[in-house]
Amino acid sequence: MAIQEIVPTADGSFTLKAAHLDETYHSRHGALSESAHVFIENGLKYFLEKNTPSRLNILEIGFGTGLNALLAEKFLQENFNGTWQYVGIEPFPPDFRALFHQGFYPSSLHGPILEALCQGQKKIEIFGKNSGILILDNSLWPSESAQGRFDVIFYDAFAPSKQPEMWTILSLEKAFSSLNKGGVWVSYAAQGAMRRNLKQAGFHVEKLPGPPGKREMTRALKL
Ligand SMILES: C[S@@+](CC[C@H](N)C(=O)[O-])C[C@H]1O[C@@H](n2cnc3c(N)ncnc32)[C@H](O)[C@@H]1O
Repeated sequence: MAIQEIVPTADGSFTLKAAHLDETYHSRHGALSESAHVFIENGLKYFLEKNTPSRLNILEIGFGTGLNALLAEKFLQENFNGTWQYVGIEPFPPDFRALFHQGFYPSSLHGPILEALCQGQKKIEIFGKNSGILILDNSLWPSESAQGRFDVIFYDAFAPSKQPEMWTILSLEKAFSSLNKGGVWVSYAAQGAMRRNLKQAGFHVEKLPGPPGKREMTRALKL
């Protein structure tokens, strides 16, 4: 497993650095601000403003530290009344417990999901006003059973310059076929070639203002 170092970012939150790629998991301008702006505000919140599902399915490619998932769960608790499922894909999960003990996670995100991640659980059920389940299972994507199954995809692979295979037409077609009609794909990435690949894969592509310190991000819709 590659060495990951905790790195502070400009908004006071932390990210990890993947030494083998010389790349951080989030923006150095603010990890939490980036996650909140790209994935919650322009992904999940946007979808729920346009749709009123009783059941919501989210897929995250590149689950990493789980920051996006923890923010999503908090958002859903406060803004959603149905049931939800969140599938995280991550071939190299970090040591969540070690991150927790090093103060990686802000106290606003402490709760049952983080506790369960720290215990090594891969299927975490949350009960309450809006019950949900978080599943970490790499066999669920790409797979036949993922086709037309998700409403929102958080596409959080390493940058196209570092992990080009994740941004090819073929990879993005897999994401396209995993979405329901009306579904939303969202990413921090803003590269022109990647956007052309998204179009080739069948998406309607939108350029949006990026999080602090970044000019643009990308949202893509399956119309
Ligand atoms: C930019 S970081 C994601 C940050 C993460 N969402 C978070 O909040 O911490 C990219 C992640 O993609 C993961 N990754 C690498 N190859 C992958 C693959 N083939 N499929 C899915 N995830 C992959 C990396 O291990 C890393 O955790």
